[in-house]
Amino acid sequence: MESVLVIDFGGQYSQLIARRVRELRVYSELVSYDMAIEEISKKKPKGLIFSGSPYSVLSSDKTPPMVDKRIFSLGLPILGICYGMQLIAHLFGGKVVSSGRNEYGKTRVNLDINSPLFAGLKPAEVCWMSHKDSVLELPPSFRIIASTPNLPIAGIENPVRKIYGIQFHPEVVHTPSGMDILKNFLFEICGCSPTWTMISIIEKEVDEIKNTIGDGRAICALSGGVDSSVAAILVHKAIGDRLTCIFVDHGLLRKGEGSQVEKAFRENFKINLVHVKAKQRFLSKLVGVTDPEEKRKIIGNEFIRIFEEEARKIKDVDYLVQGTLYSDVIESGTRDAARIKSHHNVGGLPEDMELKLIEPLRLLFKDEVRNIGIELGLPEEIVWRQPFPGPGLAIRIIGEVTPERLEILKEADSIVVEEIKRAGLYKTIWQSFAILPCIKSVGVMGDERTYAYPIVVRAVTSEDAMTADWVRLPYSVLERISSRIINEVEGVNRVVYDISSKPPSTIEWE
Ligand code: XMP
Repeated sequence: MESVLVIDFGGQYSQLIARRVRELRVYSELVSYDMAIEEISKKKPKGLIFSGSPYSVLSSDKTPPMVDKRIFSLGLPILGICYGMQLIAHLFGGKVVSSGRNEYGKTRVNLDINSPLFAGLKPAEVCWMSHKDSVLELPPSFRIIASTPNLPIAGIENPVRKIYGIQFHPEVVHTPSGMDILKNFLFEICGCSPTWTMISIIEKEVDEIKNTIGDGRAICALSGGVDSSVAAILVHKAIGDRLTCIFVDHGLLRKGEGSQVEKAFRENFKINLVHVKAKQRFLSKLVGVTDPEEKRKIIGNEFIRIFEEEARKIKDVDYLVQGTLYSDVIESGTRDAARIKSHHNVGGLPEDMELKLIEPLRLLFKDEVRNIGIELGLPEEIVWRQPFPGPGLAIRIIGEVTPERLEILKEADSIVVEEIKRAGLYKTIWQSFAILPCIKSVGVMGDERTYAYPIVVRAVTSEDAMTADWVRLPYSVLERISSRIINEVEGVNRVVYDISSKPPSTIEWE
């Protein structure tokens, strides 16, 4: 499989570069700048892209990330972006200086369209700049291919060695011709062909799973979300009946979700499915519990216990399938965030069973997983479903979870989702849902006094759930949501909209 490696120096857009390359149907992986040269060679890439970085090659107090100079002797085409270009200039004997001020934003850049990197572009294009340092003097045997009035050296090339550098960012949408520049690099300079399609990924994954599992057996914890669903279908394609999916339905799912998952897997895919309906078991454990962390722990532990009970009933299992994504792989270990909430998901299960892990999505981004899901025939409701926390609606009832409150929340939540979908906003919003705080307020309905719950509506945009902003929903949508919930859901007499961003709030209330 042809690939181009993105050498990551810690830039904020490194992941995005890899995604853009993949959008152009060339497989791309993000690797750390200190990966051993032998490891890089082993991957047999057709080219390398050096990412940006928060560091400066000039830094004397902190050691800037460098590469092993032998990387330039591999004979591979290289494209350096921002810090990547400065590093190339620095290592080849050019002069990098710090202007002391950030140059940030859209800039008109003059391009030498005789360079293969800019073939087919206009002589001047709007490009996105975000840098402090710049190249003041060219290294020997390089020439200038891009400039701006403030920045005489905004792009460099050594056409013989196929080494290129640009100070601006082709991977962001603010550089409208950025994809053309990447295309030129991939197809004209590296000689790649656009063969990395969803179908080719599916075939490769299925082959690999077959080779790994052989005639063994696997189990998978299905959550109803897109990741575990796609992982399960891929493994099913590879080993058929030797896969059993266990769907622990804690009764805290959204309206209709449990039966939707059951139908999709049993009917559409004929997958062996154990649907454990354990609502009573979970609700009885939650009686009297109001502390958010306690709720999370109880649900997490019970979930694992049930999963283990069921898994042990299936004989001779060797493998556990998990829907780990590439973003989880990249992020694991690099983020040392304080523990804000004890997250529970189907990952990390169950250690003492000594099962080997199968993670068919570990090299894929979420949007790629969705595309594969569509290709595999997974129903749209599952493919496009917004993220949902493992402990489910229990952490959206602020107070004790009771069957009555659960029903109220399910109904209200389904109205929120329906109206957001009706407004055509569902796919652009990260999450939109209802919360039930266990307080009551006075209202009046048909001349009668009511004393009932409020519903909080939350809708946020986000890239990765680490930060989020509340959605400026049109008043007409809010109005419909409010009037439908109050009219259709018994026990609710008030609707409010949460207008807090993360940080300082979080997406979920508990
Ligand atoms: P917060 O509330 O911390 O949530 O801003 C960030 C994202 O994580 C989801 N979430 C969870 N996902 N298990 C999960 O798999 C959990 O226990 C859990 N708690 C929160 C939340 O919905 C949001 O997308």
